[in-house]
Amino acid sequence: MHQINFMNTKILNMNKIAFITGINGMDGSHLADLLLTRGYKVYGMERRSSNANDVNTKHLKDKITILNGDMTDQNSLLRCLKECNPDEVYNLAAQSFVGESWNTPEHTSEVTGLGVLRMLEAIREYNPKIKFYQASSSEMFGRMVENPAKETTPFYPRSPYGVSKLYGHWITKNYRESYDMFACSGILFNHESERRGIEFVTRKISDGVARIKLGLTDHISLGNLDAKRDWGYAPDYVEAMWMMLQQETPEDYVIATGETHSIRDFLTEAFNHVGIADWEPYIKQDPRFMRPAEVDVLRGDYTKAKEEMEWVPQTNFSELVKKMVDNDLKLLSNV
Ligand code: NAP
Ligand code: GDD
Repeated sequence: MHQINFMNTKILNMNKIAFITGINGMDGSHLADLLLTRGYKVYGMERRSSNANDVNTKHLKDKITILNGDMTDQNSLLRCLKECNPDEVYNLAAQSFVGESWNTPEHTSEVTGLGVLRMLEAIREYNPKIKFYQASSSEMFGRMVENPAKETTPFYPRSPYGVSKLYGHWITKNYRESYDMFACSGILFNHESERRGIEFVTRKISDGVARIKLGLTDHISLGNLDAKRDWGYAPDYVEAMWMMLQQETPEDYVIATGETHSIRDFLTEAFNHVGIADWEPYIKQDPRFMRPAEVDVLRGDYTKAKEEMEWVPQTNFSELVKKMVDNDLKLLSNV
């Protein structure tokens, strides 16, 4: 297990500036929490929306600076860099919902794929010495040519989202090799937390189970219950992002737990936690939540991250599910 000396890292990073896109997302908010404890000055980018979207970042209001920009607008990215003059850029912004990527494939490609190119170009123009982290995804492995998947496993994406992420991954590698930039990708397997968006299956289940326990609903509507994912805890994973940018050379790393569990396993664990053993009567299968092409199983091999960065996951599957269900019980009890 890695040991970080927090006092020392805080002093070392005291004058460092980080710029995070996708600040209001799950990972963006956890990464900001982490970098503040490490002494960074943190800037986050959000896009304009008609309603405030700060549920994950309300607690950071006076601690970070928000800049306005959009991954589809090259000039806005360059302006943000000029406004904050960062040492490190973490590109977490994306249309990140796989299911939605079949409804809006062109938009997904613009934001999740070409958006990466726009940011790399902005960095190249403003200051090519900036260190760049790209949020690559296990969705790029899709049909899993090798199980568990590692950095050298061939890719086989199964969704417009996965294809867009693959573009972002390769253009990051290409800019590293073409322009000698410190640009790297973390190939992160699924990770979740109390701040996960409600449309993703884990949060949908933790919220649904809490509602059933509190008598607020009598069912959860779901799609494919047999898909398997390698689920970790987001706060553990944002630490790996930071570690990648502290390495001597830019490299890509798989970040995962090495375990895989089905949606059924998640349901069993979540319902058990609230004292319900027979959960099947509470589930309605709804074809609206089935996908045109499914990723049946994902499992990652994080050996490289462990050996080179001493990164290991700290939170196991059972702990993750309990944290999420407990959080939703608390949120719904306070309504
Ligand atoms: P998330 O909660 O969906 O956050 C994504 C963020 O991107 C949101 O804040 C969103 O802003 C922003 N965004 C979307 N379109 C944008 C645009 N055109 N311009 C600027 N910002 C835009 O995702 P996450 O789970 O934190 O994931 C962070 C990153 O890691 C994403 O790139 C995701 O694809 C990738 N990833 C996630 C996982 C995972 O399991 N969580 C695994 C591998 C890779 P709005 O709030 O305005 O929509
Ligand atoms: N969202 C959702 N809703 N998924 C469901 C449902 C449902 O009602 N029922 C079953 N599933 C299944 C999906 O078909 C999929 O196989 C699995 O649950 C996980 O779906 P999501 O939670 O939406 O996550 P994902 O694996 O597709 O994508 C997430 O992980 C990727 C990394 O592998 C996202 O965070 C991506 O941004 C990320 O790159």
